Amino acid sequence: MSVIALLGAQWGDEGKGHIADKLASQASIVARYNGGDNAGHTITIGSTLVRTHLVPAGAFRPQTVNMLGAGMVINLRSLAREVDELNRIGANLTPERLKIDVAAHLLLPSHVALDGAGESQRGAEAIGTTKRGIGPAYTDKAARIGLRAALMAHAQRGAFAQAVGSAIERANELLTRIYGQPPLDANAIVQEYSALAARFAPHLADVTPLVHAALERGETVLAEGAQGTLLDLDHGTYPFVTSSATTTGGVLTYLGVGPKHVTRVIGVAKAFCTRVGAGPFPTELKDEVGARLRGTGSNPWDEYGSTTGRPRRTGWLDLVALKHAARLNGLTELVITKLDILSGIHPLRVCTAYTYHGTSSTDLPGDPTILSECAPSFIELPGWQQEIGSAQSRTDLPREAQAYIELIESFTGVPVSHISVGPDRAQIFEM
Ligand code: IMP
Repeated sequence: MSVIALLGAQWGDEGKGHIADKLASQASIVARYNGGDNAGHTITIGSTLVRTHLVPAGAFRPQTVNMLGAGMVINLRSLAREVDELNRIGANLTPERLKIDVAAHLLLPSHVALDGAGESQRGAEAIGTTKRGIGPAYTDKAARIGLRAALMAHAQRGAFAQAVGSAIERANELLTRIYGQPPLDANAIVQEYSALAARFAPHLADVTPLVHAALERGETVLAEGAQGTLLDLDHGTYPFVTSSATTTGGVLTYLGVGPKHVTRVIGVAKAFCTRVGAGPFPTELKDEVGARLRGTGSNPWDEYGSTTGRPRRTGWLDLVALKHAARLNGLTELVITKLDILSGIHPLRVCTAYTYHGTSSTDLPGDPTILSECAPSFIELPGWQQEIGSAQSRTDLPREAQAYIELIESFTGVPVSHISVGPDRAQIFEM
C-alpha cells in the first residue's frame, strides 16, 4: 500500500521508538533507514523495558519483518549483543524476521577508535558524538573504501578477512601516526568479525526489492528514522550533526523508494526540546525548570542518553525549529510526546521567533554561527496542574494543554495526530 515515514522532528530522542512500536502493529515491514547504534530506542512491553540500538521497532510484533536498510552503518558486535538480548525475551529474530541490506556498511572497531581519538583531539571544539564510530564509518563509505554488508557472504573464502584486515591496518596508520594512539590488534578483530559475519550472513538480503514487493501486495512499510531532523548531515546544525540523512530524503535514498510511495510523513516531537552533545540550542534552559524537564535519572524516561547515559540539555519548545522540520520533511502529521512532563509548570514559554542583531525572523538560519547568536522570542501560555497520564482523547486534556497543542498546529501548519502522556503503549492516544 504505502510507506509511512516516522522520523524525529527535533534533535533526536523524541520518543520515536515508543511510537514506532505502536505503529508497527499496522506494518508488514519495519525498516531502519539511517544511522547505527548511536540510536537508542526505548520501548516498554508490558512491564519490561526494552532498549534497542540497531534492531527496528517491529522486533516484538510477530507479523513484521525487520530490515536494516542500505543507509545504515552496522556494528556487528553490537548487533549480536542486541539480538541475543532481544531473543532472550522472546523477539525470535531469525533470518526470516531480521534482514540486513547487502548495501549497508559495516562499522568496525577501528571506526569506534577513530571517533574517540578525533573527539579527544578536537578538545573544546568536540562535537560530543556518541563515540560509536558513526562519523568514521560514513567517511569510509563516502571515500568508497568502506566494507559493505554483502562481504559477509564471503566470510568463508578469505575475502572478508582480507578486507577487514586491510581496514584495520589503514586505521592503525591514522591512530598511531596522527593521533598517537596504540594500534588495534588486527588479527584478533579479523577472527572475531569473521565469526560474526558467518553468523549474520544468513540475514543478508536485497532490502529494496523486498520493500517494493510488500508495497505491490498492498502492505504497509514503516520507515523508522534515527536521530532527528536538526542532526541531519545537510540540513542540521552542521558540524554539530550526525553523518547521515535523518530526514524524509533519507527514507527515499536509503530504502530506495520514490516519493509517490510515501503517503504519511510523521514527525515526532517532544512537548519541549532536548539536545545531547554540543551545538546551538536557542531555547536552552540552565535553571530549575530545565532541571525539572530533565528529571533526576531515577526513571528510565528521564532525559539521560539511552546509548551514552549523558544528561541531555533541555529547553522550551522551539516552534521556529519545529516549523523548519515540518517544511524540510513535508510532515503530514506530528506526534507530540511527553506532554505529561509539562504538568505543574506555569507559565509555559514557547519560542515563536528568533532575533538576530535586532531583526526578528521565523526562519531557522542555515549558518550555525548565526543560530548560536540568535535570541529566542517567547510567548507565554498558562500551564496546568493536573496529572494527565490517563488521558485518552484531546478532550480529556485540560483546556490549557489543548491550547498548547493548538498553538503547535497553527504555527507549524501540521495537524497533531497522536499524543503520548506516558511510557506505556496504552498512553499514546489518537487525536
Ligand atoms: P554521532 O552520531 O555519534 O556522530 O554524534 C553526532 C551528534 O549527534 C552528537 O551531538 C550526538 O549527541 C548526536 N546524536 C547521535 N545519535 C543520537 C541520538 O540517537 N539521539 C540524540 N542525539 C544523537
